[in-house]
Amino acid sequence: MKRFAVAFAAVLALVLGEPALADEPIVIKFSHVVTPDAPKGKAAQFFKELAEKYTNGRVKVEVYPNSSLYKDKEELEALQLNTVQLLAPSISKFGPLGVKEFDIFDLPFLMSDDNHAHQMTASPMMAELNKKLEAKNVMPLAYWDNGAQVYTANKPLIMPDDFRGMKMRIQGSKVLDAAARELGAIPQIIAFGELYQALQTGVVDGEDNVPSNIWTQKFYDVQKYMTLSNHGRLTYGLVTNKAFWNSLPEDVRANLDRAVKETNEFFNGVAAKENADAIEKIKASGKTDVHVQTEAEKKAWIAKLMPVHTEMQSRFGKDFIDRIYKASGFTPPQI
Ligand code: LMR
Repeated sequence: MKRFAVAFAAVLALVLGEPALADEPIVIKFSHVVTPDAPKGKAAQFFKELAEKYTNGRVKVEVYPNSSLYKDKEELEALQLNTVQLLAPSISKFGPLGVKEFDIFDLPFLMSDDNHAHQMTASPMMAELNKKLEAKNVMPLAYWDNGAQVYTANKPLIMPDDFRGMKMRIQGSKVLDAAARELGAIPQIIAFGELYQALQTGVVDGEDNVPSNIWTQKFYDVQKYMTLSNHGRLTYGLVTNKAFWNSLPEDVRANLDRAVKETNEFFNGVAAKENADAIEKIKASGKTDVHVQTEAEKKAWIAKLMPVHTEMQSRFGKDFIDRIYKASGFTPPQI
């Protein structure tokens, strides 16, 4: 009798178009390149818990930290192919997708002030830029501000001249390439997941990042000096595959949108504090000397790097740069 019931259920499943599969949860793979205890890692886990709770288990989120599934460039390609459904890369990595406008946010000092960074990502101009990503099937759901960037190296970086001849790791953006060259350094694009080793083996001499990444990736183990230069910004774009997101049942999508909204608040609540804590922990490690810039040094860096803004007019157009200044509230410093 029992065997008959099992066989009957199997036939029924075939006839009715595999009802068992219909009950399978929708799987969202969320891949990222940082550790689970970095702000992005914590936010990914937070999102997973909310998404599964709000959808009553109809969605299952699998989080893959530490570049364990894909590295920088691969993860964006995988998202376009829908082999992964959520990422939160630095927006400095969107340029190589063919959306060069995002590189503009790397203009030195443009977003170093917290208020400018927040004003920019909340600006209606982002909707215009989002459309350019969506045309590549990459749909932004949110922007997360991970704070101002600092430089690390194996020698002190006090004045701009100290960069001369240094091999510096950069992310994919052309503006970061121009800024490194302006400093007299030799820029090299290296995936985040390969950076520790590149610093350890001397493939590059230094890099720039947010303190929480320098702490959680243990870069301080292999970098003797850190300068609190706050010259740039690390902004993440929480992105999904557009076709995938639009194919979700409406109620599921609404619950996921709610989870995204709450994750944004969570991220904003942890990022700044984690950077401040990381600076203290790096100092306490005794492995890295942390340099606070004097006013004169800061001015010298600004004077050296502001010409990148003018140089980039040929890439973005002066009008576009002016609109970004206005949207972010940035006024070019007088030098
Ligand atoms: C980097 O490549 O330095 C960062 O974008 C890594 C990250 O995702 O925080």
